[in-house]
Amino acid sequence: MDRRTKGASVPVEGVPPPEGGKLPKERWQSGRQRYSQGRGSGFSVDTPVRKLSHVRWHVTGESQGKRASGKTAARYDRIAPVYDMMQAGMERMARKWRALLWAEVKEASKVLEVGVGTGKNMPFYPPGAEVVAIDLSERMLERARRRAEREGVRVDLQQMDVQCLSFPDASFDAAVASFVFCSVPDAVKGLREVGRVTAPRGKIVLLEHMRPRSPWLARLFDVANPIVVRLLGFNINRRTRENVREAGLDIESVRELDRGGIFKLIVAHPGKERCSERGQPPGKESRANGGAEQRGTPKR
Ligand SMILES: C[S@@+](CC[C@H](N)C(=O)[O-])C[C@H]1O[C@@H](n2cnc3c(N)ncnc32)[C@H](O)[C@@H]1O
Repeated sequence: MDRRTKGASVPVEGVPPPEGGKLPKERWQSGRQRYSQGRGSGFSVDTPVRKLSHVRWHVTGESQGKRASGKTAARYDRIAPVYDMMQAGMERMARKWRALLWAEVKEASKVLEVGVGTGKNMPFYPPGAEVVAIDLSERMLERARRRAEREGVRVDLQQMDVQCLSFPDASFDAAVASFVFCSVPDAVKGLREVGRVTAPRGKIVLLEHMRPRSPWLARLFDVANPIVVRLLGFNINRRTRENVREAGLDIESVRELDRGGIFKLIVAHPGKERCSERGQPPGKESRANGGAEQRGTPKR
């Protein structure tokens, strides 16, 4: 631990714990402090607190969005210790898809990774690229930070909600996400934000699982969805391709990765009508996904 930062007091004004005040204040504050300590190991882990205003925007507002973001963060905080173990079986398949995902942005010099989780994409980061990786969950970020240290990966890890990014417009050459928009409470809002912060000719590449093509299987996924969300934190019936369109992004290609049409690699670009969601009052959920996970029947 860096002696300069040990015990340093980090301001976390106005940021309540994920589930609306259940944790004692000291506990979530010290967690935030721990995470924000720089280790002097070549990559930056000392920035999340600086960026918390947008999280506060969601968490303290009187909105469904606020509750949904808090719930998502809490779920992933809970799952974080077992996430890698839970995903081990699927990871054998996913590794080759991750390689495809990152091959799409190998030329980019500044990349945003949305929903970094425990950092499973780190081995695929383009050498020499500056990568900024965000996540809503503090505990997932802690694991990502440890992985970055272990593997010597340079990455700027920040706690942030993709539905309200604090980066200026067109800050990145490319944005990448794997298995993220199945858990973002308002996926369309998040995708719009990704479009906003990606340069006009930049690439947005998404590796996602979504609602299956077969109607009966799709219906089964709809029925099972609320249980899966509760246990694992993500939706299994999102219509991500439609959400990408609704967010105003231009789709370049959609590659099906399995026979059931569940796993897809989507390559898109920011749409011509660039949309800034910043400053929009909380609670203005887009039509897609608002509250859908609770009912198990997505609107999109
Ligand atoms: C299923 S995990 C995927 C993690 C990682 N991308 C991977 O491929 O293993 C989904 C991640 O998205 C994050 N997430 C969910 N909603 C988010 C949001 N609104 N903003 C940022 N991250 C979010 C979760 O905290 C979680 O770490």
